[in-house]
Amino acid sequence: MEGVIDFAMREILTESGSYDHAVTEFIRVNDHLLSKSSFHKYSPELLKGGQTKSGTSVYIQLLGQHKDWMAENAYRAWEVGAPGIDLNFGCPARTVNNHKGGSILLREPDVVHGIVKAVRQAVPDAIPVTVKMRLGYEDKTLAIENALAIEEAGASSLAVHARTKLEGYKPPAHWHWIAKIAKRVKIPIIANGDIWCREDAFKCVQASGCQDIMIGRGGLSLPNLADVISKDEKPLSWQNACALIVKFAGARRDGKNANFVPNRIKQWLSYLKREYPEAEDLFGQIKKFRDQDKMITVINRNYL
Ligand SMILES: Cc1cc2nc3c(=O)[nH]c(=O)nc-3n(C[C@H](O)[C@H](O)[C@H](O)COP(=O)(O)O)c2cc1C
Repeated sequence: MEGVIDFAMREILTESGSYDHAVTEFIRVNDHLLSKSSFHKYSPELLKGGQTKSGTSVYIQLLGQHKDWMAENAYRAWEVGAPGIDLNFGCPARTVNNHKGGSILLREPDVVHGIVKAVRQAVPDAIPVTVKMRLGYEDKTLAIENALAIEEAGASSLAVHARTKLEGYKPPAHWHWIAKIAKRVKIPIIANGDIWCREDAFKCVQASGCQDIMIGRGGLSLPNLADVISKDEKPLSWQNACALIVKFAGARRDGKNANFVPNRIKQWLSYLKREYPEAEDLFGQIKKFRDQDKMITVINRNYL
């Protein structure tokens, strides 16, 4: 998740090994070849075999509209060690869509097909090329056409966020629409949208007919959600969630300014408060701080 799940967060969330794989924040591809260091910036895991410490592979996500530049950059991502390439046709951000990137491309299945095909042909067959889409831009009329185009172009799997761009993040996610897609294509479909707890996961699997699910915000709200779903673990205690915040704050952040970590802690609390009422209290106590050490002192004193 762009601006939210960086390598330090991936390290923490994947620690128990319950995620099959993770995806980087999207890397914007315009009309040039990105430097190798840009890929390392988004995925320091590349220096360690493209995996988090627990061995979860981290695919590089590309977002762009020019098929040849997407292909060139996918090749470069492979050259620097990406274990897989993921293509983003789901981003709803206005600035991205205004520049013809993300979900707006779902208006043009031919263009989507061209991008997926060019990327598929650019990297070795053994490297998975996966795709992420929404159900559409304004409406869902092209959902199946897009999925068929993505399959025909050679994608290894397709993750579907069960909303259109126009629906934004407004509940509900239309899981039954994923079932319509899954009935028409043979590649694995991964269901995504509004999975916040174990029960949601089962409901989603039932409604979508998919075996595989993708978790975004839910994993931030409940950091062991993947274990809760797949191993029936108990939800993480607030105290243990605080220990993760401290760990997150302590991770190396090369090239980031002093505000980066304090802002990310506040941002994470905004997700955590969905699961933990204490997160709201903690936010109140630290919201004026700009210094992460002061924040950590409060956490240590009051919650650990
Ligand atoms: C702040 C934010 C940033 C996101 N960035 C990305 C991204 O970079 N790439 C991507 O494929 N999806 C991104 N998403 C979408 C999520 O991956 C996911 O599809 C969406 O939030 C619905 O799933 P959820 O209900 O499990 O969060 C982002 C979502 C949010 C809220």
